[in-house]
Order: sequence, then C-alpha cells, then structure tokens
Amino acid sequence: MAENTEAGIKETEYPEEIFFEDAGYQNLMMQYKCAILELETKFRVLDTEFSLQYNRNPIENIKTRLKSPHSIVEKMQRKGWDLSVENIEKNLSDVAGVRVICSFPEDIYSLAGMLTRQDDIVVVEIKDYIARPKPNGYRSLHLILGIPIFLSDGKKHMRAEVQFRTIAMDFWASLEHKLKYKQDIENADVIARELKKCADTIGQVDNRMEEIRKMIDVQ
Ligand code: GTP
Ligand code: MG
Repeated sequence: MAENTEAGIKETEYPEEIFFEDAGYQNLMMQYKCAILELETKFRVLDTEFSLQYNRNPIENIKTRLKSPHSIVEKMQRKGWDLSVENIEKNLSDVAGVRVICSFPEDIYSLAGMLTRQDDIVVVEIKDYIARPKPNGYRSLHLILGIPIFLSDGKKHMRAEVQFRTIAMDFWASLEHKLKYKQDIENADVIARELKKCADTIGQVDNRMEEIRKMIDVQ
C-alpha cells in the first residue's frame, strides 16, 4: 500500500488486492479448496485399495495447492483476460492443483485410469508429457478434470489440474523450475542442455527400476 499524501487518503498500488477481499472471489476459492479435498480423498482411497491388492503403495506423496492471488493475476494479465470471478472460473483450469508422486511410471497410468473411470469425474483434457516429453525434457502426465463438490445448496463441478510424476521426474522438475524463474542466469543454455540429458537419463532409470521391481515381484 502506498500513501497518497496529497489527498490524505490511502491508495493501493495493487487494486487487485481489493478484488481478493471480495466475497465472490473468496467463495470461488473455497469451492476450489473443496475440489482439492475431494480429489485428495479419491487418491487416498485408491492408494489404500491398491496397497491391499498388490502389497505396496503406488502413491509416494500427494501435494496440493490453491493458485495464489499473485499467480492468478499474473496469468490473467498474461492471457489478456479481465480480472473477474467469472473469468477466473471460465478460463483457468489450474486454480485447484493436485500433484501425485508415484514410484513407478506404470502406477501413474493405473491411477489415472482408475480415477478417470469414476462416474462422477469428467475428463476435460489429457496431456501426456511422459509418452511425449517436452523439448526441455519435462515429463509428467497432466489431467484437467471436472470434479463435483457437494455444498449446502447443491452440487457443482469444479475444474482441477492433476499432475502425475515419478519421484525422479518431480526431483528434475523442481530444479528445472528454478532455472525457468531465475532471470539473467549465466550459462543458461549449458544448464538447459545438462537438464535435458538428466531428464532422458531419469526416463531410462524409471523404466529400469520398474523392470527390476517386476523381477522381484514374480519371485
Ligand atoms: P499454462 O498456461 O501455464 O497453464 O500452460 P499450459 O496449459 O500449456 O500448461 P501445461 O499443461 O503444459 O503445464 C501446466 C503446469 O505444468 C505448469 O504450471 C507447471 O507446473 C508444469 N510444467 C509444465 N511444463 C513444465 C516444464 O517445462 N518444467 C517444469 N518444471 N514444470 C512444467
Ligand atoms: Mg494449463
């Protein structure tokens, strides 16, 4: 907040801060939080059932996040959309985000299949960056889903983004993310080349680890 000394009143440098106090915005964020809760529970249920069936847990970790007001503004501005509750809901698919970290690539596809076959889930979009990694080496399976939430006044479908990664892919993505958001970095091209090599190695190691696990499982 900056002080407007001339008029003697407070003026905000960030008019969007007022927007985030709005009841409509807070209500929408509450609904996205509920969608995250629903999805997290669905994954925990699948993990619990799978562990009884196969004697191991396919999910290593679940990370959830609600897109921050700062990131919402940044993305709306970048895409040229006016900042309004309606536009956020209409245009952003990743306000509710769930990241599911698995040990093995096959578990990613099993879990994604088990989730998307549930009859209350709507599949909006699938991006398979494991089968087709990005040019920088990024690997993950992304799903945009519609998921129902049940509130006091009825049912509503919310969109959410689910990212599935192996532990190694997640490790890679967190380091690569640092490169992407650091400005004026020296040797960025050398680093990008090294990261690409690591991503390919990680892809191979994930597959070999899976083969070894299968060899152990059949004994
Ligand atoms: P957005 O407008 O950013 O949503 O682009 P998009 O819809 O094409 O997104 P995409 O599905 O490709 O990626 C969505 C999210 O995946 C990003 O916000 C990141 O969290 C993650 N992601 C995608 N590509 C990369 C990448 O190259 N590196 C890392 N570290 N993360 C990525
Ligand atoms: Mg996206």
